[in-house]
Amino acid sequence: MFKLFSTSHIKAAKEVFPEKVGNKEWHLSQWSLDEIMKVKVVENSPDRASYKDDLTPYQDSVFSTLDKTLKGNCASLGCGCSNIEYQLATKPDNKVESMDCYDYENFMEDFSKETRDIPNIHFYKKNVLEIDESKKYDNIILNQLLYALNDKSLNNLLQKCSSILRDNGNIFIFCTSKSSPRSIFNSARKILLISFKIGNYKEFKPIGYMRSKKELERTFKENNFKFEKQESNLPISYKLFR
Ligand SMILES: C[S@@+](CC[C@H](N)C(=O)[O-])C[C@H]1O[C@@H](n2cnc3c(N)ncnc32)[C@H](O)[C@@H]1O
Repeated sequence: MFKLFSTSHIKAAKEVFPEKVGNKEWHLSQWSLDEIMKVKVVENSPDRASYKDDLTPYQDSVFSTLDKTLKGNCASLGCGCSNIEYQLATKPDNKVESMDCYDYENFMEDFSKETRDIPNIHFYKKNVLEIDESKKYDNIILNQLLYALNDKSLNNLLQKCSSILRDNGNIFIFCTSKSSPRSIFNSARKILLISFKIGNYKEFKPIGYMRSKKELERTFKENNFKFEKQESNLPISYKLFR
């Protein structure tokens, strides 16, 4: 596991807590959930949000992978704007519950009200580490969420997933691995920033944790999940069942 350095959220941080920006210790430490939520309020304000209805090529590949395989109801954890989940929910058999610790339901109300008035999808503002374990799902989607969790939280999440997943249910994981070109680039940047103290560190902060494919597989196996073959040609995509 290593920290993923990124320029994300720094612009908004300069507005929300200008006193922290420029403090080297802050730049080299992980974002807290509270800080991320505060900058998201600024980033997602109607005049600033860069949200688009259309799926990006990456989202389109995730959608096709899920569309071919989903059966039954579905929980998307760390759903963000839920573009993919909205598309899935247009099919009458797909009932989707989308959860994120940021209040995306209210955010999305400012966009495409008519096209998004779909009864099969429900939003919850929820920290997924505190999910209601009495609910049961046939499918769980973890799309670009795992990077945001440290090892302890990841294990905690997998235990929760284990309780909410029905027998023969599936978990679909999409995330970038340590060996992707982007993370190799980011680790090179980290070496430059920290070891040699060059570059403008004020534009960077670690945004999450990267794991290799092997590390992810080991963690899931330790939590008693079985892997099925990779379902698409995306950087890392797995279908897991128990
Ligand atoms: C990179 S975004 C991915 C969003 C979406 N799944 C997608 O692929 O577009 C990661 C999301 O995870 C959410 N997140 C991170 N930690 C979370 C937690 N503990 N509980 C709920 N959501 C969380 C963040 O708020 C963010 O919206």
